[in-house]
Amino acid sequence: LGSGPLKGKRILVTSGPTHEPIDPVRYIANRSSGTQGTAIAKALVKLGAEVIFVTGPADAPRPAGAQVIEVQTAREMLEVATSALPVDVAICAAAVADWHIVGAKDRKLKKSKDGTPALEFGENPDILKTLSAPGEARPSLVVGFAAETNDVIENATAKRARKGCDWIVANDVSPETGIMGGTENAVTLITDAGAEPWPRLSKADTATRLAERVKEALLT
Ligand code: C5P
Repeated sequence: LGSGPLKGKRILVTSGPTHEPIDPVRYIANRSSGTQGTAIAKALVKLGAEVIFVTGPADAPRPAGAQVIEVQTAREMLEVATSALPVDVAICAAAVADWHIVGAKDRKLKKSKDGTPALEFGENPDILKTLSAPGEARPSLVVGFAAETNDVIENATAKRARKGCDWIVANDVSPETGIMGGTENAVTLITDAGAEPWPRLSKADTATRLAERVKEALLT
């Protein structure tokens, strides 16, 4: 392990989408690239933290220097995330699927003259909410993300309360911002002190700034 101000701090980062199987060859997913989560992991590694990076199937190259654990589903992500405890900080940047398919088949579904298959959705566990729950193993800082298309601050502030996390990194993902799938981000950091808008920055610079704030929170 390297040196740096966060040496000795264990930080969990979730990233990427999850894949929820329908059968062995089919799944439901979302368009998360894992770019922002990966950049956050890199920025924390750079500050010397021990980073446990739990990622769903994402395109972004894995962050060097982090302990990388690859998962497919939300349920696996929860299992790995809770097994990583205790950690000092948890940053939930993953775009976790809200639902899984109930009764996913272990054989490929076949076309049938009897009609099309029906999919039944079941609710997935909320990893951020689980990690934020009070208790001995709760990280001292839990950070969530909120992608909103309207009333960003209002919605993100409500989400912070609902999830029980300490900070929410909120962003406006309206199509006209070009943020979703882009290289830049413009976020508002919501803490108990209120809403702090950050300038439009590259996702790498957004990550560096967040890592600096984590450092300040842990060391002051
Ligand atoms: O509720 P919503 O999905 O908008 O909340 C987004 C935040 O919650 C993100 O930080 C995301 O990583 C986290 N989340 C989670 N597990 C879920 C759903 C969301 O950790 N099942």
